[in-house]
Amino acid sequence: MKSFWVPILCAVVVGACGGSAPDDAVQASMSLAQQHKVPAPPGKGHGKHIFRHETFGNETFWSDQLRLHEVVGTTVDPRTALSVGLKVDVSALPHEVRRGIAQGTVSFTSPDTTVALLKLDAVVGLKGRVESVGGRDRLTRLGVTCALCHSTVDNSFAPGIGKRLDGWPNRDLNPGAIIALSPALSEATKAIYRSWGKGRYDPRFNLDGISAPVLIPPAYGLQGLHSITYTGDGHRIAYWNRYVAVTQMGGHGSFTDPRIGVTVTNGTDDLVSGKLPALEHYQLRLRPPAPPMGSFDAAAAERGRVIFNTKGSCVSCHSGPAFTDANLRLHAPTEVVSEPEPNGAPSFASRSATKMYRTTPLRGVWQHPPYFHNGTAATLEQVVQTYNTRKALGLSAQEMADLVQYLKSL
Ligand code: HEC
Ligand code: HEC
Repeated sequence: MKSFWVPILCAVVVGACGGSAPDDAVQASMSLAQQHKVPAPPGKGHGKHIFRHETFGNETFWSDQLRLHEVVGTTVDPRTALSVGLKVDVSALPHEVRRGIAQGTVSFTSPDTTVALLKLDAVVGLKGRVESVGGRDRLTRLGVTCALCHSTVDNSFAPGIGKRLDGWPNRDLNPGAIIALSPALSEATKAIYRSWGKGRYDPRFNLDGISAPVLIPPAYGLQGLHSITYTGDGHRIAYWNRYVAVTQMGGHGSFTDPRIGVTVTNGTDDLVSGKLPALEHYQLRLRPPAPPMGSFDAAAAERGRVIFNTKGSCVSCHSGPAFTDANLRLHAPTEVVSEPEPNGAPSFASRSATKMYRTTPLRGVWQHPPYFHNGTAATLEQVVQTYNTRKALGLSAQEMADLVQYLKSL
């Protein structure tokens, strides 16, 4: 794996790093009160624009190295694109295109339509450059944005086509299948990417060579939390945003964290650092979605709330307004009911900086099944069953059902 990534990421020096993680180092010297102050974005809507449209120059990875633009521009029709979970932003479509889709006159089986959608900047999370070559529109560059994994749409126009929902994890997206379209990868590497499945991505595979993907988490509901990622690797969102923008998306800039022995620099310019404050500010504003009307039984949820706070002891970790003790402590893998990992994979925590797990915040938890970092619980019913068995809570079937209703109400 590493031999494939090394030419892409100009320097991957595992175990040989000086310096410290800048965003965390800065944060460590700040008081808690200062940490609560989010720097104002340079311009209105700036952070949103970065989240949705900024590639940080990662076309050098997705186009120059992976050559995905060649495949997407010539063989991926919209039906295929939607089938791997890509979403279309209806508000970017001119009236006549909307009418054409509704009336079936816009072909969903022609790659030219994909190119046209990219030209309109209507494909969520993909940024294409379309140029006229010999009188025909061609996709000449392709990059990805944060919205690829952390936005979906409300399907208000058609399945997969609607208004953007920023911060909602795209659990339909199959990032591995998309990367595996690359003509630059060996069959063996493609097979690994294809094995990940939808809603999952391994943000450490290219660095430690272990393939054990985790679920794409929400990017909403993080206001006030000073512990970011499943394993609490960063105190600030910006720590992880830099990690992903540089080491995963291939953006131009640097990331270094001696705790995990990773130093990566792409390009000679820095297209990441200056954008992190506004990007963080935007994410902190993303609120968890309220449960849909009628999606839970209020009386049962009230009984479930009592179980959560007493017999279930859920509140001993899922405490406070965001239902997490993340600002106080992390938890050893032995305390966590989602381990051991499926398929004999090593503990996800063991691959992280902290070797621990952060209690997941629960607001909006109804919205994004399956559950736990590795998706080992398909439903909230399964989550509660797992806790009941693993922690020997002795909850009755009725108590478990009530607890599920409570979780659905958060
Ligand atoms: C290819 C898919 C993908 C892309 C693109 C991506 N992420 Fe993520 N993101 C993930 C995965 C998977 C995790 C879980 C990693 C972990 O917790 O160890 C994650 C974690 C996060 C978290 C932590 C959430 C929490 O609960 O603490 C935030 C915030 C986040 N991403 C924001 C971003 C931003 C901003 C960008 C763009 C710079 C981005 N992501 C790009 C897949 C992606
Ligand atoms: C010892 C601390 C602790 C206790 C007690 C605890 N949890 Fe958790 N909870 C965690 C941690 C840590 C995670 C993250 C595990 C992972 O991602 O694999 C988690 C994850 C979850 C999730 C998954 C959230 C998601 O987005 O995937 C749910 C739901 C949940 N817990 C509900 C409960 C309920 C209900 C109880 C009580 C029966 C409970 N928890 C008790 C620490 C705890």
